[in-house]
Amino acid sequence: MNLTINQQDFSVSDEDTTRPLLWVLRDELGLSATKFGCGAGICGSCSVQVDGVTMRSCVTPLVAVEGKSIRTVEGLATENEVGEEVLHPVQEAFIKHQVPQCAWCMSGQMMTALSLIEKNNDPSEEEIVNAMSNNYCRCGCYVRIKTAVKEAATLMQEQEA
Ligand code: FES
Ligand code: FES
Repeated sequence: MNLTINQQDFSVSDEDTTRPLLWVLRDELGLSATKFGCGAGICGSCSVQVDGVTMRSCVTPLVAVEGKSIRTVEGLATENEVGEEVLHPVQEAFIKHQVPQCAWCMSGQMMTALSLIEKNNDPSEEEIVNAMSNNYCRCGCYVRIKTAVKEAATLMQEQEA
């Protein structure tokens, strides 16, 4: 089975197409930035984008993502013309506001924030809280998450201008 992840093609075994995307990312492809939390579709730490929509990779079977474009947090940064890494505005904002504590939830937080901002690049505080409300942070970084999402939206607006 072929998967497209962060605009790269990967070939994985199609022996059991019901296995969760999360384990394929982490254990088979070494894309371990996406984290396992609850394993039950509740906490959001395993969030990735599939065709631009946030999905919980711990409960997403491989068969559901065949032929679709998967994006993980490893795919956020880009390279400039001299090969230097350029962080995505969401990453920049999360670093600037020192959002992570243990950081376990952060890839899921950033992918969820990205999906929000790609749909709405000027979200209100209420819209941010609503969009992020199903991504749990055991360290309680919610205030900094909200601030960083607002800043990321502003940075993305500036990029688009
Ligand atoms: S690990 Fe997937 S939602 Fe918690
Ligand atoms: S930073 Fe520790 S769980 Fe969110």
